[in-house]
Amino acid sequence: MRQSGRFLHGGDYNPEQWLDKPEVLEQDIRVMKKAHINVVTLGVFSWSSLEPQEGDYSFAWLEKIVDHLFQNGIYVIMATPSASRPKWLADQYPEVLRVDDKGMRRRYGGRHNFCPSSPVYREKVQRIDQELAKRFADHPAVILWHISNELSGGCQCAYCVHNFRNWLKNRYVTIDGLNEAWCTKVWSHDYKSFEQVEPPSSIGEDLMQGLRLDWNRFITDMTVDFVQMEIAAIRTFGESKPVTINMMYYFEGLNYFKFKNVIDVASWDNYPTWDKADNKIIAMKTGLYHDIMRSLLKKPFLLMESAPGNTSWQSVSKLKKPGIHMLSSLQAIAHGAEGALYFQIRQCVGGPEKFHSAVISHDGKEDTRMIREVSGFGNALLELEEIQGTQTKADVAMIYDIENIWAMEQSRGPRNKGLGYKENLQKQYQALRKLGLNVDFMDMECDISSYKVVVAPMLYMFRCGFENKIRDFVENGGIFVLGHWSGVVDESDCCFRGERPHNLTDVLGVCCEEIDGLYDWEENQLIPVLENNEMFYQATKLCELLKVTTAEVLYTYGSDFYAGTPSVTQNGFGKGTAYYIAADANAEFYQKFYKDLVEKNAIDICATDIADGLEVTKRESEDAEYLFLQNFNIDAVPMPNIPVGFEALLGNADREIPGYGNVVLKRKKT
Ligand code: GLA
Ligand code: ZN
Repeated sequence: MRQSGRFLHGGDYNPEQWLDKPEVLEQDIRVMKKAHINVVTLGVFSWSSLEPQEGDYSFAWLEKIVDHLFQNGIYVIMATPSASRPKWLADQYPEVLRVDDKGMRRRYGGRHNFCPSSPVYREKVQRIDQELAKRFADHPAVILWHISNELSGGCQCAYCVHNFRNWLKNRYVTIDGLNEAWCTKVWSHDYKSFEQVEPPSSIGEDLMQGLRLDWNRFITDMTVDFVQMEIAAIRTFGESKPVTINMMYYFEGLNYFKFKNVIDVASWDNYPTWDKADNKIIAMKTGLYHDIMRSLLKKPFLLMESAPGNTSWQSVSKLKKPGIHMLSSLQAIAHGAEGALYFQIRQCVGGPEKFHSAVISHDGKEDTRMIREVSGFGNALLELEEIQGTQTKADVAMIYDIENIWAMEQSRGPRNKGLGYKENLQKQYQALRKLGLNVDFMDMECDISSYKVVVAPMLYMFRCGFENKIRDFVENGGIFVLGHWSGVVDESDCCFRGERPHNLTDVLGVCCEEIDGLYDWEENQLIPVLENNEMFYQATKLCELLKVTTAEVLYTYGSDFYAGTPSVTQNGFGKGTAYYIAADANAEFYQKFYKDLVEKNAIDICATDIADGLEVTKRESEDAEYLFLQNFNIDAVPMPNIPVGFEALLGNADREIPGYGNVVLKRKKT
């Protein structure tokens, strides 16, 4: 982004709602300057103001606002308006509206509900995008293009079904190829031609895994294609500035990794429910998602939206307690964001989001708690300016692959009342983070060769030869940790023939023979083999029964008919080591396991004795390292042990870090 050197601080701004009140714009600009806001996102839902009638464009109001903002030092992220359309468009061309899985076409209304295949919709979007680009590509205020908004969902209209069948033809070439991949002889569901294939539907076929997986993949590809069409429209007259899409918290409808070569900046919208549960846990889940966003492009990302106060769509609209705003916004920066933005700068007076917080509220007051918190954060960004542009490096990667999640969660299997995948991922992530390690997230298509440690929780599906990557990784000295219920199926969710984890049993020195589903009230235990103490850890939900070939047994099970059989193993393979954890263990187990692993394998850590709920995150440049210490507890915690030479850039490096407090430290590299 052109405006480099400064962190971005700002938010969505919808001035078309008060064009008749110029004093509002003046006040907004005054407050933005006071709160150190340097960027706004314009145009997200502005289509009806930009093209009130078909082909009748009206851009003067927007040009005036962009000029005026720029004169006041405020940059613009320009959004394309495709997420929400004017009424004339839907009335004139009903095909732009989505068709659901029961074949019912939606009526006009809401947002995010267009058909991505409709030729008319694509043409209209292309036109309005080109008109926008014509006027704003060269404007010095515009630093980034924001394509559509929170893309999601699919459509089952005739165009989309036609495209799906072509997509399948492309993938399988012959219908026999498809039948084999999807294992359609089961229940006599084999097809004679691609024209017979229908999308998954709640009133039709919704149990065939191959179909459901390919439909999900198709929806991602359609969405990627739609975004590419919009980017091409923006670029028609030579615009070359970066583009982004705003992604969503734990959204599983799209494979975001497929956008990594399409967008220039990853950005996302984060609305954590502070105080709904323990804030430490909420912070960990948010931190995990920041790390996914950074990992998509392996470079700094943007927090595109967050609520300056409460939202209006969550079940309870809780205020952020004093300090939470700074803490959570700074958390994004710690994890590698180049800025933190809000939804929204000024509150709407009507519509579904009229009670959603904004920097400036309905009352227009300028001395509010919200504005003080926002400007406090803006001020901190100025103090931390030298960190802008620095990188986040990680020695550890976790495998997070949405296709694996789709397959595992859609499959009828060992525990239909919840496999606990997400919780397991979070427990392992948290254990690594508690050691002060930065963590990247990679999918099975990514290159993992540069990491020291790769952790794959519940990698049920192996796709695109992932097992070969792992074999090479371990052979060349990597440390690999594989969780239970892994290497079971191929990319169509058909089981591999032969031992599992597929093609890795020699690397791991074990194979899995059976898997036991546990009732909610049941537990087993993981008992350390070597340690001579009473300590044991809990295993719940799923326990696999292992047969060991060459591995060393680190833990055994404590009860049931498989008591005394192996549950956690370690195996040397080539120059590396492969661990297998056969059950869903409790958080304490993973903490102990990774502490041992880091010590045994001499992995660098940047701090020790990190208190519970204290996040330690590192950014670095060629010349300096920066440690962010963030306390997500309401009470103070002791400073962790950190290497010598760090000095405070923000906050005090005293013996304690206050409740909800932040300390940022710097050390020059020698
Ligand atoms: C999403 C949308 C915004 C707004 C906010 C409210 O992130 O992108 O337009 O609706 O939610 O929290
Ligand atoms: Zn459609």
